[in-house]
Amino acid sequence: MSEHIDVSQHNGVQRLKINRLEKKNALDSAMYETLTQALSTAEMDTHVKVHYITGTEETFSAGNDIQDFMLNPPSGTESPVYQFLTTLATLNKPLIAAANGPAVGIGTTLLLHCDLVYLGEHTRLKTPFADLGLCPEASSSLLLPNLCGHPRACQLLLLGETIDAHTAVSWGLANQVISSEQLQNHALEIAETLAEKPTEAVLLTKKLLRQTQQEQVLKRIDEEGKLFTQRLHSTEAKAAFISFMQKSN
Ligand code: COA
Repeated sequence: MSEHIDVSQHNGVQRLKINRLEKKNALDSAMYETLTQALSTAEMDTHVKVHYITGTEETFSAGNDIQDFMLNPPSGTESPVYQFLTTLATLNKPLIAAANGPAVGIGTTLLLHCDLVYLGEHTRLKTPFADLGLCPEASSSLLLPNLCGHPRACQLLLLGETIDAHTAVSWGLANQVISSEQLQNHALEIAETLAEKPTEAVLLTKKLLRQTQQEQVLKRIDEEGKLFTQRLHSTEAKAAFISFMQKSN
């Protein structure tokens, strides 16, 4: 269990909070493992009707921990990040996200697997995979163009542009922009309202909404994962990681 993931339950909602502020909520292997375990346990728990994921007040997540990428690069389907992504993509219960501040890399792409996404006014979404010598992950090469169209997907995945919360909503990547102060209360209220609705009807509705794409999404997670793993060992990626770590120190 990672100390950087807070797990709690209230009114039918399991809340997951990414809480590693000193590293801008960058996700390491232990954090993925904890997230996967909490999501899987909640899927089986009849008291939990809705999953909820958030970060800290001013930061959602700076993406994968770059140092962890260098020390423990994911190597296949058993890797914690792969397990996390396939769990996300196969959840039966609805997943609601509330994000504010930077959401980089998987901090953005995990939102594509959420059913409702609420963004604080300081949100900045960015997927700088190409700049880092990497390639898309989390089925983002499939989900992003489906949601916002090929040209905009290229702005994110090829150019690595940063978009703000209002742009994300207008591109169809999120539901609503909420003031930073109101974000958590607003998103939790929606999660709790959803948790009170007839359970079987909610599950069925999510299934119908997601099932057409699910097989393709899992296949793409797999394809991207293999390429991503190769890219992690490339000279380009190694140089980008070293440059980031040197800037930080
Ligand atoms: N992995 C590991 N450490 C990270 C990290 C990451 N993805 N993102 C931030 N950190 C660490 C920094 O190294 C720094 O650590 P230090 O205080 O020990 O030096 C600390 O978090 C604060 O980061 P900093 O860059 O100083 O904060 P900022 O507010 O200026 O910028 C971000 C925040 C998120 C915009 C910036 O940290 C960033 O771009 N991070 C890299 C994101 C990334 O490329 N992720 C994709 C991976 S595929």
